[in-house]
Amino acid sequence: MADSFLIRGGARLTGKVEISGSKNSALPILAACLLAEGKTTLKSVPRLSDIDSMVKLLGEMGCHVFRHEPTEARVGALPPLNGNLDIEVTDERVSEARYDIVKTMRASICVLGPLLAKRKRAVVSIPGGCAIGDRPVDLHVRGLQKLGAEFTTEGGNIVGTVRGRLKGCRMYLGGAMGPTVLGTINVMCAAALAEGETVLVGAACEPEVTDCANLLNKMGAKITGHGTPEIRIEGVDKLVGAEHRIIPDRIECGTFMMAAAITNGELELKHCNLDHLIAVQDRLDEVGVKIRRENGTIFVSSSRRLNPIEMTTQPFPGFPTDLQAQLMALLCLADGMSVITERIFPDRFLHVGELNRMGAKIRKEGPTAIVHGVKELQGAAVMCSDLRASAALVLAGLAAKGQTRLDRVYHIDRGYEKIEQKLMAVGADIERVAER
Ligand code: EPZ
Repeated sequence: MADSFLIRGGARLTGKVEISGSKNSALPILAACLLAEGKTTLKSVPRLSDIDSMVKLLGEMGCHVFRHEPTEARVGALPPLNGNLDIEVTDERVSEARYDIVKTMRASICVLGPLLAKRKRAVVSIPGGCAIGDRPVDLHVRGLQKLGAEFTTEGGNIVGTVRGRLKGCRMYLGGAMGPTVLGTINVMCAAALAEGETVLVGAACEPEVTDCANLLNKMGAKITGHGTPEIRIEGVDKLVGAEHRIIPDRIECGTFMMAAAITNGELELKHCNLDHLIAVQDRLDEVGVKIRRENGTIFVSSSRRLNPIEMTTQPFPGFPTDLQAQLMALLCLADGMSVITERIFPDRFLHVGELNRMGAKIRKEGPTAIVHGVKELQGAAVMCSDLRASAALVLAGLAAKGQTRLDRVYHIDRGYEKIEQKLMAVGADIERVAER
């Protein structure tokens, strides 16, 4: 049975929140483990349903995965979350990612590059439609083709094969919408075991790409330039298991920054990296939110007089599309008109209708949303449509007058580790109930 959240808005959030390891780093990194011989130990792996799906997929591909008892992120007096995970390839016979798993998690496409490089064959179901818009994988396929892989499509699957060994080359990897995060990681993983040098021009610069490159280098890869648009990879003959800590989840961190701001609260966010959120800090500064950092902790407070702003989502280091919906929830309560433009996924606006049900005044014009600030939001029954849109509705519910009922919270469970426990521990009135 699906769960819902009941949120009674109005509580001011105060206290400490431990940020978990990054979902979007952990997913491709788990897939990259297909490349290595021997055991890899990953630390700070969040407990999320998407991680469970990736673990299931890797299990079907002959990986032995062992989850240690959680030891890290704490929520008040509750048991710790996060934790270590060991992964080792023990059988390389199966190279197929089934539709049943791919349809629940698009990041399954991350196995394509590692499988082709290591097993010379990959069958990956083509990811279908998605609530945040069209999400093609043409750039992944083109990049791997340039390394020498051959592709056909059969029965809804991408079937890739490699004769001999992949061969490094210089290639442009960008597309009409700019760089691709998972596409860069897929091709970088494959190039790590290719013959000769690969240069990826127009590569994604996101911290998740850098995190994966750092793990691959610990495994014996020779990668430089990660974190810039030009990544150089000198292919090696083999990679061996290593130990690696996943970076903090910058999107979870940004979501809690906005939770502090929208509730007029004061939060201390532990285990995070503000350098990964520089554009978010810039926009929140202009909104009037106070942000201070001390080592790995971020202090966020707000007096809830929010200035309206303009914001456009961009590839890193720009403002991330994965925080667009949450910022929109915040700007619903600003003193004036804000303009939000979505440049990565121009149709990623399913939260607009639901926020308007809560009393917001948002008008969508193409890839832009015009947000007229209102004095207050009102609790209502609303529906989760995708992960980040749902997070925006949680934020709106925390600030709204009265009760919000949020259905289909399985969308949130894909990417926020026990969000209701973390919120409760800092004073939110939120409870998980069975859906009616
Ligand atoms: C990653 O998706 C993230 N997912 C997304 O987070 C995030 O929104 C996105 O990067 C952008 O930052 C994971 O890391 C698991 P892209 P990814 O390829 O890599 C177009 C969340 O909420 N494109 O960088 O799949 C594409 O349509 C999720 O946690 C092509 O045209 O995104 C988009 O317009 C949702 N062809 C742009 O590039 C391709 O082959 C950037 O997408 C690939 C992408």
